[in-house]
Formats: sequence, structure tokens, C-alpha cells
Amino acid sequence: MTVKIYDTPEVQDFLKTVAGLDQAGGTERAKQIMHRLLSDLFKLIDDFDVTQEEYWSTVSLLNALGGQTQFGLLSPGLGFDHYLDMRQDAIDAEAKRNGGTPRTIEGPLYVAGAPEAEGFARMDDGQDRDGETMWLTGQVRDVNGNPVAGAKVEIWHANSKGGYSFFDKTQSEYNLRRTIHTDSEGRYTARSIIPSGYGVPEGAPTDQVLKALGRHGERPAHIHYFISAPGHCHLTTQINLAGDPYTFDDFAFATREELVIAATRIEDPAEIAKRELEGPFSEVVFDIELDKTEAPELQVRHKRPRAKEDAQDQASQLAGTAEV
Ligand code: DHB
Ligand code: FE
Repeated sequence: MTVKIYDTPEVQDFLKTVAGLDQAGGTERAKQIMHRLLSDLFKLIDDFDVTQEEYWSTVSLLNALGGQTQFGLLSPGLGFDHYLDMRQDAIDAEAKRNGGTPRTIEGPLYVAGAPEAEGFARMDDGQDRDGETMWLTGQVRDVNGNPVAGAKVEIWHANSKGGYSFFDKTQSEYNLRRTIHTDSEGRYTARSIIPSGYGVPEGAPTDQVLKALGRHGERPAHIHYFISAPGHCHLTTQINLAGDPYTFDDFAFATREELVIAATRIEDPAEIAKRELEGPFSEVVFDIELDKTEAPELQVRHKRPRAKEDAQDQASQLAGTAEV
């Protein structure tokens, strides 16, 4: 027989004390959320008869996750990122913002401050010999089909080994990261390399959590986007390349039917010459539709700690050019 103490007055009073509900300082929201969180966890310990050993090995795992800054990696794996997207979709639907390309998770590997270009950019540094040449292009349009000129399209993706520059120190600075402003027809084009799928580091704390659930930590080959333009909703999304074994088995739950795109292999010498490439390549076409909005807060990405973003914010504020 297992003991049950959760519902006793001592435990209920104790939870209020721990959450600071009888103290004047702090913030009400922090207290309410901590009270609820601890209540749910205390109840769980009671219900599952959690042992001392289980509790302290969890503390140790949390330390390991934090020590290797892996909470950002585990978060999509445990579905938090997708859940926040589902909530945002519901908020948009309620506000009758129903148009536009679907959002999907940002992931933990964006780095602010990538080089900017007009219309076209080459994203790869030419060092990744295993990477097949990718011609990535598309048009940004509003919900009425009008091209959006001067839209800011930020793109980032992994190399042929599934690694991201900045986090993978073997790559050059800002490799496979660019910001492209659309041309007068709303078009952007990038020359890059086809990314490989990504997997969470083998044996790392994130991997340990997923393994305990009988799950893998693999993502299909994918390409991340931020798209913004004045008068339009900021869009955080990504495309998942068709045909990857993990396209519909993504540990981060980012795949959406409308965002699965096939790469087309092109070998016609005329098409190669037109793009000034050296040989056959794969073309990926991703057109983007942005919903309209007058609300300034919907026109920019949400705030979140991001690599290099703080330094950049400070620099642009000093220069008096901070984004709205
Ligand atoms: C993770 C990595 C990604 O590249 C991504 O897009 C989403 C999640 C991760 O490690 O959790
Ligand atoms: Fe990614």
C-alpha cells in the first residue's frame, strides 16, 4: 500500500508557504504559476510513489541538461514548441487571421546578424564538398496574391552533416545563414547546398530523455525561415524536404503537410548555365503568403533569448535604428 499525503492540510499549507503566497514581495503571477507547478509535481510524486532515487536522478539529469544548455533542444522534443504554435494558431483563428502560409517552430539554432543581400544570396562558403547544390527560390505574396517587394526573408539551415554554423565550430561564421530582401516582384533566391537531417547529440542528456521514452531524436532535412514586411504578420516557419525518412516522423513535431516541399533534380545544361552553376543541382521552390495586420507587435518576431541578438539589439539602439 502506498501512502497518500497530498490532500492533507499540512501539505496544502506547505505548498502555499513554498510558493510565497503569504509574502508581500515577488510577483503575483510567479507565485500563482509556481504554486500550480509544485502542486502538480507534489501530487505526481504521491500518485506515482516516486522514490528518493528517482527524484535525485531527475535532479542530476536537469543539471546535465542545463550544464550543456540543452533545455532548448529538449523543448521541441517534448512538444512545447509545437504546443505553443497550436495555441498561436488558435489565437489567430479567434481573431479571424486565417490566411497565409502556416507557421511552425523556430527551433533552438537561429543566430542573429547574418549577412544581408538584395534579391539573391549565396549561402554556403563552398567548403562542404558533400553538399549537393541547392537553388532555393520563391515569391512572397499577400493574401490577395500581390507580390510583397522588400520583404525581409531570413533563412538558415544545416550542412550535409546536419550541423549548424555557430553551434558547429568547424563551419565558417554565418555559413548557411542569410537575410535576403525580396526584389520588385517579391522574389528571393538563394544558392546553397541541400541540408541533411539533424539528430540530437548521441548520448547527450536530451538523447537520454528521449531514449527513456522509446523515442528517437531525428529531424528530417529542413530549412528555417523568418519572413517579415511592414503591414504584414511576421511569419516563423520552415520547409521539410519530401522523401526524407523522417519527413513525417520528426522528433520536434515541426512538419506540416503544406510545408513539405520536393526538391527537383535538374540536369539540363541550359538551366545550369542560366543560373551560372557548375553542374546538376536541385531546385526547391517555396512561395510564401503573408497575412495582413496593422498591429505593430504582430509584424515582428516574438522576443526570446537568441544567439547574438542581444549584442545586435544594443548596437541598433545605440544607432537609433531599433526595429519597432
Ligand atoms: C532542434 C534542432 C533543430 O534544428 C530544429 O530545427 C528544431 C529542434 C533540437 O535540437 O531540438
Ligand atoms: Fe533546424
